[in-house]
Amino acid sequence: MNEKQQTHQAVLVKEAMTALNPQKGCYYIDATFGQGGHSREILNRGAKVIAFDFDASAIAKGKELFRREISSQQLILQRENFNKMDESLLNLKKTLDLEISGIFFDLGTSSDQLMSKDRGFSFEAKDEVLDMRMDERLGVKACDLLKLLDEKQLAKMLFEYGGETDARAIAKKVVAARKKDPNSLDQVGTLVELIEQVKGQKTKGKIHPATKTFQALRIIVNDEINNLKETLPKALTILQESKARDKRLVCIAFHEGEDRLVKTFFKQIEVNNLGKLLNKKAITASLEELRNNPRSRSAKLRAVAI
Ligand SMILES: C[S@@+](CC[C@H](N)C(=O)[O-])C[C@H]1O[C@@H](n2cnc3c(N)ncnc32)[C@H](O)[C@@H]1O
Repeated sequence: MNEKQQTHQAVLVKEAMTALNPQKGCYYIDATFGQGGHSREILNRGAKVIAFDFDASAIAKGKELFRREISSQQLILQRENFNKMDESLLNLKKTLDLEISGIFFDLGTSSDQLMSKDRGFSFEAKDEVLDMRMDERLGVKACDLLKLLDEKQLAKMLFEYGGETDARAIAKKVVAARKKDPNSLDQVGTLVELIEQVKGQKTKGKIHPATKTFQALRIIVNDEINNLKETLPKALTILQESKARDKRLVCIAFHEGEDRLVKTFFKQIEVNNLGKLLNKKAITASLEELRNNPRSRSAKLRAVAI
């Protein structure tokens, strides 16, 4: 792992700022604060940010890094699922006079989460618990899912959310392993070994054989698709009800299912004359960014003006 991969590098920053077009003194929602890369850029333009993240460690780090901006109320940082942004906003409006000019999503996980050795996201941390919750308040860990789902459900899920073509064989191995010892799948390493038995070991230049299975489990554990499905209409309503001018909804997705949701939702906005697409096609990373930040590989940015 090189140094760049250890801390989160925000993706498509220039493109996101062009789409969001932050204006001095106006309020923007950053639904997925992470390490605050995009929030920082919005603040640098003199705008204000209301940011959400449901990961306690992202919020704790943010409170340290953005101490000055928080104390001056340039940044309001909340540990909350973004699907509650409407309720949070109503609460804030009790004491603050604010209109929202833009809402931004940078979906998925941060490199800090993926690289942390004690949260079960990393295939390298073989002795850790297969957890994968971004929000520790969630009830079900990835290892619980492997105990709860039947073979068919598990295979379907690995295929649907990870695009794993060996989903059935992996699900079969998992069920056989848990029959022998139900707790054997509590550890990251056991699942990685089972996947390697099916897919072979990592070969040079290829993604790790466990990548797709881990992605699928993470998406389910954190209910990522449903959170987005629920929140996009809320975000639209917030912008429609706002008295700000030239309002923007901007989203970066990394997973095909999420991008499809965003694409369809944004298209409907235009079809129903509720807004205008800023780009007909998704914006992707430049060659330079791809070279410097491998995580940008699958990023797709879509934006709509309301
Ligand atoms: C890709 S990272 C964002 C990185 C950020 N833009 C930056 O530049 O540092 C996604 C973040 O969103 C958070 N997240 C994902 N789903 C969420 C949800 N439903 N509610 C709140 N936060 C969420 C994750 O915990 C993670 O920190």
